[in-house]
Amino acid sequence: MGCPLDGTPLALAAGSLICSDGHSFDIAKQGYANLLPVQFKPSRDPGDNKSMVDARRAVFAAGLFDVVASALVSVVAPLLEQHTSQRAGRRPCLVDAGCGEGYYTQTLCTQLSTSTLGVDISKPAIQLAARHYRAPCFVIANNKTLPVTYGSASVITSLFGFETWEPWSALQTPGQYVVCVDAGIDHLREMRQVVYPTVVTHEPPLPPLAAQQGYRLTDTVPVKKTHRSVPPTLTDQLLTMTPHGVKTGRAGSQALQDAGTIDITVDAVIRVYRLG
Ligand SMILES: C[S@@+](CC[C@H](N)C(=O)[O-])C[C@H]1O[C@@H](n2cnc3c(N)ncnc32)[C@H](O)[C@@H]1O
Repeated sequence: MGCPLDGTPLALAAGSLICSDGHSFDIAKQGYANLLPVQFKPSRDPGDNKSMVDARRAVFAAGLFDVVASALVSVVAPLLEQHTSQRAGRRPCLVDAGCGEGYYTQTLCTQLSTSTLGVDISKPAIQLAARHYRAPCFVIANNKTLPVTYGSASVITSLFGFETWEPWSALQTPGQYVVCVDAGIDHLREMRQVVYPTVVTHEPPLPPLAAQQGYRLTDTVPVKKTHRSVPPTLTDQLLTMTPHGVKTGRAGSQALQDAGTIDITVDAVIRVYRLG
C-alpha cells in the first residue's frame, strides 16, 4: 500500500500504517484503515450510506449477481497470470476501486488467490466489508488518490463505479489493466418498468478519458441473466442499493410491493482496458 499523501510505501507498525515521511493512519479494530485525509473528502459522509450498503449485501447474499462475479473472475484470471509470469512467480496485486461492501473483492481475492485491496470512500461500506470478509485488505480512500505505490496495481477493477482515468494512468505502468463493469441496457429493466412511468435506456458508457490517458480497450464481455419470480422483499433491496431508490423514494418501494413477484434481468458489460 502507498501513502495517500505522498505515495511512499506504508509499513505496519504498532496498529498503524506509517509512511517514510511519518504520515500515520490508524487501523480500526474491524481491520480496515482510514486513508482518507479530510482534504480528500468531497463531503462530510461521502459515498453510499448504510441502508444502501446493507441492501447491497442482502442482494448479493441472495445470489442475484453471482453471474457477474463469475464472469469477472474468468476475465481477470488471465490478466493476473500474465503479470505473475512477468514478475517471476510473485503474485500481482489487484485493487477493487469503489468496492462497496466487498462482495466482488472477496470473490476475486479467494478465487484468484491474489493480493487484493478493496477501496471505497464510504465508511459504512468499508466497515461492513472488513467485518464480513477477512481475505482482502479494505481501506477507506478516494479513487482519485488510490493508496498504492507506482506500478503495484497490476489490475484495477471498477464495478458500477466511478473511474478516475487520469490518476490511475499515473499510478499504473504500461501493460497493466483496468477492468470496468457497467450496466447494460436491460439491467434491472423489470424493476425500472415498475417504478418509473417510462423506462429510459442507456448504452453502457464508453469513456473518452480512457483513450486520452493511454488505455486501449482490449476485450468486451457481455453478461446477462434473468432471474424468475423475485419476491418484493428482494426487489425493494435492489431498489434501495441503486440511485433509483433515492430518485423514486417511498413511491418506488410501494410500487414494487404492489407488483409482487417479478422477474429481474441482470445485464452488464465487462470491459478490459490496457495501458500502453
Ligand atoms: C454503485 S456502488 C458499487 C459498489 C461495488 N463496486 C459493487 O458493485 O457492489 C458505487 C460505490 O462507489 C463508491 N464511491 C463513490 N465515489 C467514490 C470515490 N470517489 N472513491 C471511492 N469510492 C467511491 C460508493 O461509496 C459506492 O460504494
